[in-house]
Amino acid sequence: MTHANDESSVILSADRLSIGYDGEAVMRDLSFDVRRGEVLVICGGSGCGKTTLMRTIATLLPPISGSLKVSGVELVGADKRGLTTIRNSIGVMFQNGALFGGLSVLENVMLPMEAHRHLRKPVRREMARCLLSAVYLQDAANKLPNELSGGMQKRAAIARALALEPPIVVLDEPSAGLDPITSAELDQLIKYICHSTRRSFIVVTHELPSIFEIADRMVFLDATTKTVTAVGKPQELLRSGPERVRQFLSRTPNDPKKEAA
Ligand SMILES: Nc1ncnc2c1ncn2[C@@H]1O[C@H](COP(=O)(O)OP(=O)(O)O)[C@@H](O)[C@H]1O
Ligand SMILES: [Mg+2]
Repeated sequence: MTHANDESSVILSADRLSIGYDGEAVMRDLSFDVRRGEVLVICGGSGCGKTTLMRTIATLLPPISGSLKVSGVELVGADKRGLTTIRNSIGVMFQNGALFGGLSVLENVMLPMEAHRHLRKPVRREMARCLLSAVYLQDAANKLPNELSGGMQKRAAIARALALEPPIVVLDEPSAGLDPITSAELDQLIKYICHSTRRSFIVVTHELPSIFEIADRMVFLDATTKTVTAVGKPQELLRSGPERVRQFLSRTPNDPKKEAA
């Protein structure tokens, strides 16, 4: 039995959240939530503010206004303890979040554990090995990142994002630069980890096959209105969402006649 609509199942919620740089909003009045154990896809045009939103969620950029609650803690005005709770709740893989080239794959995965946990090194190493097995990289532990294919590097970065066993995992354009087959494999991995561990994933992507494959729900950010245009299941939004969202999900080009008018 699922409790997808219970209040208690919400692990992150944004309420009229405005985000941006130096007090200047990139996106305004964002309201959406993330439920336990779901994959929430964030999509929207290039430059609309998706990475800015991921940075805000990762506590690297303060919100301009509004509320952002993670694991029951309000980020705005949070004290040190609150911030620690939020940071420990989130594992992130940024868009260009490269692995450290001078460290082995295993050492890359161990890195977040060193900063946050007082566990003995052999224990950390064993935990990192388990994570690498979970992303099918057990045989690549001692390789350097540049010895791995693009897809393997992404999987290693996902293992690193999982290092502190966060309930929320944020992936910013994980399949950028991957071929369609590798990208489809990554989708399966994300779904598998999400559903087998009841973690929540926030995944930025505008690849339509990925959206329909992995998204339990999606949030559509519109660069024109600078806010959330729609939240819902991709199939439902395709059928009955706002026009712009239906156009995006059905990959319909703008009408040049209308554009010219
Ligand atoms: N560090 C920054 N300082 C000021 N503006 C920025 C910074 N990073 C990004 N921006 C601007 O914020 C807007 C949204 O960028 P971004 O969040 O990277 O978009 P997306 O990830 O959706 O492509 C863009 O107009 C971009 O130029
Ligand atoms: Mg981006």
